Amino acid sequence: MIPLFDTSTPLAALRGELRAAIERVLDSERYILGPEVGAFEREFAAYCGADHAVGVANGTDAITIALRAMGVGPGDEVVVPSFTFYASAEAIPPTGATPVFCDIDPDTYCMSAETVRAALTPRTKAVLAVHLFGNVAPVAEIEALGVPVLEDAAQAAGSRVISPAHGNSIASADRNLAADAARPGALGTAATFSFFPSKNLGCFGDGGMITTSDVAVAERARTLRFHGSHDKVTYEQVGYNSRLDELQAAILRVQLPHLDLWADGRRAAGRHYEEAGLGELVRLPRHVDGASPAWHLYVVAHPDVGRLENALGAAEVGHKAYYRTPVHRQVAMREWGAGVELPATDEAARTHLAIPLSPVLTREQVDVVVATVRGAKLSKIVTGM
Ligand SMILES: Cc1ncc(COP(=O)(O)O)c(C=O)c1O
Repeated sequence: MIPLFDTSTPLAALRGELRAAIERVLDSERYILGPEVGAFEREFAAYCGADHAVGVANGTDAITIALRAMGVGPGDEVVVPSFTFYASAEAIPPTGATPVFCDIDPDTYCMSAETVRAALTPRTKAVLAVHLFGNVAPVAEIEALGVPVLEDAAQAAGSRVISPAHGNSIASADRNLAADAARPGALGTAATFSFFPSKNLGCFGDGGMITTSDVAVAERARTLRFHGSHDKVTYEQVGYNSRLDELQAAILRVQLPHLDLWADGRRAAGRHYEEAGLGELVRLPRHVDGASPAWHLYVVAHPDVGRLENALGAAEVGHKAYYRTPVHRQVAMREWGAGVELPATDEAARTHLAIPLSPVLTREQVDVVVATVRGAKLSKIVTGM
């Protein structure tokens, strides 16, 4: 049996440190917005190459709060891909703005400057660039269209970009990085992360983060997460009770120093699939130009995906179709999705399948997965499917 992902093996060696971190919080008796959150915010901002980080309760709140902090409100439009986790779009209406769905590049599963351009109107206030499956959407190309970008980096902790064409904030972003590299979290005006347990960097419950190098955006996000207040005495705007807990921050501080190693393990697993010839059998995910993805999910595609699912199921190889129904076709999105036609999104939704990937996936496991896919005797893939 090969699991779809493995979050426990990488943590096994850290159990002692994790217990000590939890004890430290218990001993401190500080549970909300104390020293652990403050320290993790500084450490995570430095990791991403951003000036500020604001811990929030989850990755969904992070999007809503970051959009509001960027000035998005009623009457505005936010461009968002439909091929993503539902929360990317769900987080927009609570700001008062309208989600406008755009298509994806069928090879990378991310939005492109072309697909965003088709969705722009004079009311577009921001673009939510989802770094899907750990790939990195082309933020600089999208910003060049003249719209601010919020990165949804929920699935992209540990990914990198190696081309300066990817971001305009790289000058302030290279404290921790080679001069020609940058990370999600420092590419657009602001970025959001989820620390849901299965993410590349996951806590033991819900957690999220907003990063930005814009001090005004950071300040507004800090206030919004705290009931729209600085001091819980005067309230400047209607905000949220949405904080990262001290316990979760302490747990994440233990893990952050290992994220790059885990990300390298994810990259290596993706390379092993390529080297084992999987690309002759099914369509593999393509890196966005300049991106070095720490694959969160390894998602392949084939027109006869049902046959592939059956073969993997029979061999007890983990697999999952994450987004069979694109977001714009979900009932809750009817108001904004009706009549929208996104052919590449529909195609990806119909044909995609996540196969096993984790930082500790071995070459032997990869070989078993590839042999199983080969055994499914799928029709030969045609490029441009
Ligand atoms: C792309 C994307 N955006 C947003 C979210 C929302 O994060 P959370 O579950 O922490 O609210 C997730 C994950 O759950 C996600 O994968």
